[in-house]
Amino acid sequence: MIDLIIKNAHVATATDTFKCDIGIDKEKIIFLEKNTKQKSKEIIDANNNFVLPGGIDAHCHIDQPMKDGSVMADNFETGSLSAAFGGTTTIIPFACQYKGENLREVIKDYHQRAENKSYIDYAFHTIISDVNKKVLGQELPAIIKDGYSHFKIYMTYEDLKLNDKDILNVLEVAGKEKAVVMIHAENDDCISWLTEKLEEKGKTGPKYHSFARPDVVESEATNRAISLSRIVNTPILFVHVSEKETIDIIRNAQSRGFKILAETCPQYLFLTKDDLDKDDFEGAKFICSPPPRTVEDQQHVWRGLNNGTFQIFSSDHAAFRFDDDKGKMMNGKNSSFKKIPNGLPGLETRLPLLFTYGVLKNKISLNKFVELTSTNPAKIYGLYPRKGTIAIGSDADLVIWNTKVKKKITNKDLHHNVDYTPYEDKEINTLANTVISRGTIVVKDQKLLSKNSHGKFLKSEISGFVY
Ligand code: URP
Ligand code: ZN
Ligand code: ZN
Repeated sequence: MIDLIIKNAHVATATDTFKCDIGIDKEKIIFLEKNTKQKSKEIIDANNNFVLPGGIDAHCHIDQPMKDGSVMADNFETGSLSAAFGGTTTIIPFACQYKGENLREVIKDYHQRAENKSYIDYAFHTIISDVNKKVLGQELPAIIKDGYSHFKIYMTYEDLKLNDKDILNVLEVAGKEKAVVMIHAENDDCISWLTEKLEEKGKTGPKYHSFARPDVVESEATNRAISLSRIVNTPILFVHVSEKETIDIIRNAQSRGFKILAETCPQYLFLTKDDLDKDDFEGAKFICSPPPRTVEDQQHVWRGLNNGTFQIFSSDHAAFRFDDDKGKMMNGKNSSFKKIPNGLPGLETRLPLLFTYGVLKNKISLNKFVELTSTNPAKIYGLYPRKGTIAIGSDADLVIWNTKVKKKITNKDLHHNVDYTPYEDKEINTLANTVISRGTIVVKDQKLLSKNSHGKFLKSEISGFVY
């Protein structure tokens, strides 16, 4: 007798939509057939609700050590729990190298932070900030071969940024080793110049964060990074793309045949820079980089999701508590915007928001939703076909969605360790009702059933999608 059958599933993958029963044994999907006569230890009736591949959140910051004295709100336990309740069954957070740190040590430390704490499976990106000869010649090629085949580099943030020459060096190695390079594109010199000007005029409240990081800061850096990628002929992936001009630059490069990929996030669909302009320091809750833009930019982000400019939709969950001396208020309510930790919570709200406002409002198809939130992240980050689809032999990572919900997001319903959500009171019409990770029922009818020791580390292969 097999472990589990999901009856009456309305399955959608990135390419197909069909009705069937799903057979699961020893963590894998073993059959997809109509009206099965097979027997199982457990049966779940999906009642013709949509059953989709578990979401992959390919950009989230969890228990990442910070250099400014701030502490991230979520560790692997609370982050993975929140992700699971939002319909995500794989997370890819960042093992972050600061200058002077050995990459192996950084990865070892991050494994210790994750081990036996995650409700769902996880892979690691690395962040490369020290581009010395040893890292380029030995450490980076070795870890890429060992299952860490994708990493992020920064063009901003004092502790992390690389100059153009370092970027060329790192891209050259990535191209040779076939690693996927994610780029945070913002021009740091422009940000620091603009910040000084604002501070001289006493303009230091949260809303000025977006004045210091206008859209041209992002589009300039994006354009430059594309040029660097062309010089060494290495593909790159722009993360958290926020605005029209940058989207146009990326689309133009793609149409010229350059291997340029892009990701966007909920904050660029559902928030604007006006959210930063709130009294009593409340605007700090919305500070992230790049900042949310305008309603017009949001329309361009929707278009980019639909027309293939974006391959991935991630949360960029980087959560700091609001009322906390290690969070948004760590330097007091009167601190300059430049001293407020950057980032927003979003692991649990990413999929319900995109499903509600994208699929149910006919802005994107259901197949596109699966492609952006599960299949492409698996393909790009070397986890496919184990993850990212519903197929015989794939891990049984499945979500049964309830699409007849009418409720408002409220922080007290969420499972992260954050004292606010930027989406408070926003209506949603979908919930991840039942969430299955490698055949184990993690959430059933919105109730937790499994333990946090279930999640396992996933080694990432070289990306067949990118190379
Ligand atoms: O503001 C943000 N997005 N913080 C998280 C770090 C990053 O750059 O992704
Ligand atoms: Zn970033
Ligand atoms: Zn990020």
